[in-house]
Amino acid sequence: MKPDKHPETIVQAEQPFNVEPPLNLLRESFVTPKELFYVRNHGSLPEVDPDNYRLTVSGLVEQALELSLQQIKNEFPKETVMVALNCAGNRREDLMKVVPIPGEIPWYAGAIGNAWWGGVPLREILQAAGVKEEARHVAFEGLDEVEEGESPNFGGSIPLKKAMSPDVLLAYEMNDQPLSSEHGFPLRVVVGGYIGARSVKWLSEISLQDAPSSNFFQAKSYRLFPPYVREEPADFSKGLMLGEISVNAAICRPMEGEALPAGSVLVQGYAIAGGERTIERVDLSTDEGRTWVEANLLEDGEGHPWAWRFWEAELQFGPGQHQIVVRALDSAADTQPADPGSLWNFKGYVNNAWHKVKVNVR
Ligand code: MTE
Repeated sequence: MKPDKHPETIVQAEQPFNVEPPLNLLRESFVTPKELFYVRNHGSLPEVDPDNYRLTVSGLVEQALELSLQQIKNEFPKETVMVALNCAGNRREDLMKVVPIPGEIPWYAGAIGNAWWGGVPLREILQAAGVKEEARHVAFEGLDEVEEGESPNFGGSIPLKKAMSPDVLLAYEMNDQPLSSEHGFPLRVVVGGYIGARSVKWLSEISLQDAPSSNFFQAKSYRLFPPYVREEPADFSKGLMLGEISVNAAICRPMEGEALPAGSVLVQGYAIAGGERTIERVDLSTDEGRTWVEANLLEDGEGHPWAWRFWEAELQFGPGQHQIVVRALDSAADTQPADPGSLWNFKGYVNNAWHKVKVNVR
């Protein structure tokens, strides 16, 4: 069953429910409709009664809070921000072709989506509670029940400095509609520029701490190891704790294996930069990276620092099989590596190697 999802979306797992859109449909609209927005769940889909819902704020605060949904909506200002969510496991499928990664979801390149989120800036809530001087991190916990880790719930944290950005939201709306169940109803965190895992859904607890969250999904999972380390006997404290997204780009149209008439082909895709960085250039190659042409960056993303960027270019193809390769460059002059093998890690995170699509031209 696909609650509220487009019939062509790809169900990666039924239980827990995980789904991604096909790339040609994802590239259709700059603001991703809910029906095409990927879903990444680690556990159950909690059913929350909005009348009994409470958000607690505790830890290193002057005054602990317990807020109803009505209070959150009525007593705090509302902001609307465009933010692209990007799962750290997006494009894992290409890493799995290097060395298998059992037990993980083989996301193609659709575990990303760009939406308008409406809600209260997190900092408004933090200011109402009064943040103590020793606080450095803001930890979140959701209401869903997960099987991994010691805590029954999904959680994670972000640095306090990031949490105080006016654009980090506790969202109760997605694309002008109340949040749907699979996207975190009634309230979720939305953190632009950070891996999707920090945008905790079905938010129930906020805790101000002097250290990052000790929840499994912050302390052990969503950590990056080098290719030569295997899960057994990895020392999880040595893995890099993922936070900001890495620069990435994908070709959405044409799709892998598509048959096309010879002549001019419109190639279209998305690019995303992490943290405070912006996408500055997108390059395409049809000769495995020996030569490149620059794609046009479309304007829709301008003025929305947390959104993705759309790009396109016309390429000419004669009959035969061709491979199209994309890479993006961000405002830190950081770009994507050629080889997914150099990035392979046993959990399959952060694949930002060049994205490649093969087409058959008649
Ligand atoms: N929050 C909770 N409570 N439980 C989860 O499993 N998954 C995280 C994050 N928030 C998750 C969660 C991950 S890994 C991602 S990528 C995003 O939610 C996905 O958000 P979406 O399902 O709304 O697209």
